[in-house]
Amino acid sequence: MKVCIIGNGGREHALAWKLHHSPSVTDVYVVPGNAGMRTVATIVKLDWTERRTLLAWLLEQEIDLVVIGPELPLVEGLSDAIRSVGIPVFGPSQQASRLEGSKSFAKELMRRYKVPTAEYVVCQDVDTGKRIIHQWGVPIVLKKDGLSGGKGVTICETFTEAEQVLEEIFSSSEQCVVIEEYMQGKELSFLSFVDGTHVLPMLGARDHKRLLDRDAGPNTGGMGAYAPVPELNDTLEQDIVETIVKPIVKAMAKEGHPYVGCLYTGLMLTDKGPKVVEFNARFGDPETQVLLPLLHSDLGLIMYATATGRLEGMALEWSPQYASCVILASEGYPYQPLIGRNITGDIYTMDSVSMVFHSGTSYKEERFVTQGGRVLGVVGLGDTLEESLDNTYARVRTIGFEGQQYRADIGASSIGFCIHAKYRKNSID
Ligand code: AMP
Ligand code: GLY
Repeated sequence: MKVCIIGNGGREHALAWKLHHSPSVTDVYVVPGNAGMRTVATIVKLDWTERRTLLAWLLEQEIDLVVIGPELPLVEGLSDAIRSVGIPVFGPSQQASRLEGSKSFAKELMRRYKVPTAEYVVCQDVDTGKRIIHQWGVPIVLKKDGLSGGKGVTICETFTEAEQVLEEIFSSSEQCVVIEEYMQGKELSFLSFVDGTHVLPMLGARDHKRLLDRDAGPNTGGMGAYAPVPELNDTLEQDIVETIVKPIVKAMAKEGHPYVGCLYTGLMLTDKGPKVVEFNARFGDPETQVLLPLLHSDLGLIMYATATGRLEGMALEWSPQYASCVILASEGYPYQPLIGRNITGDIYTMDSVSMVFHSGTSYKEERFVTQGGRVLGVVGLGDTLEESLDNTYARVRTIGFEGQQYRADIGASSIGFCIHAKYRKNSID
């Protein structure tokens, strides 16, 4: 089977690497990919926004399956265009992608189908917004309605901050703001393969969205992750599948927009049970970088079955190990990343202990340089979470670029002790 992946980040590198090792897959192509993927895929220098050219190329190459990585092409309807020429696609239609593309659509669907989530109001003007903020009190959560790369959410601790953020959002081009009740608890990323009807859940993963250690600083696209998550036992998994994932999949089918692809359910494990924080219409980044190294099943077969409505009766096989990922980000990320810096160290070797997935890198004059906000995802495996973290941070210490930022506390809250000092770059073991 010939598979083409759309995208150029760390998630797509992990997908390409796993598909390259899938027995059912003969060729992996990435459009447009990045330089780090050369060892596992053929890089195709096409622009996915040039639809005619892309469709002609997919047909000419006789591609059997297209996997769409990021949210933007999904929300812009690329999967519909590719399906219309008869090629199976792993990724939801434009209509179904609204689960991620419009927070107000997702919230209203959850309300109608009684899926547990935070209380909310979609508000169209500043005055109403201020009134709600004062009625509900702080902390309170303000969200931009559309896509914003994980950076459109602010948790406001004071009334002054909340009013300021509200005014800022309306003074940009936003038409509305979603105001949400603040939920307390631990977060869980719960990803499932969905073929329109059937749901095949993956292991639980946990992302670390804030920029700095101890969950300080602004929200980012994700600074690190680990899997599996110890809190996700069979009972909780069944609860999530029965009360959240299946009802949403049924709802989408009933509304005439069956969901096909990876459904990412972001959850808060509150003392009243799991509640939805958000849906994403795709694999998570960096969750994918920790989930796929643990997957024993043939990813190509599963993705093809998902894309063609044949998941029924399929099961996933997982390694009993743990995986953790630390993101190395550029100076200035998430606001104004400074790029073009030389990267030193081994950013190629992929073995059973550690691996590196490229996000924002490019290859110039025979060396790798930084090219984006999130630059590399360093992954380590181990029989315990701590062993996997030791392997991840040992590898992190071998890689460098000027202004590099990374968190030294990935997984710390699950292990139950503070590991900051141990995992800082220049600490002595
Ligand atoms: P989202 O883009 O909706 O996933 O939000 C980004 C992050 O903001 C989430 O992963 C949470 O850490 C946090 N967040 C979003 N909504 C809430 C909420 N209602 N209560 C508490 N934290 C939230
Ligand atoms: N890791 C969060 C996301 O992919 O949106």
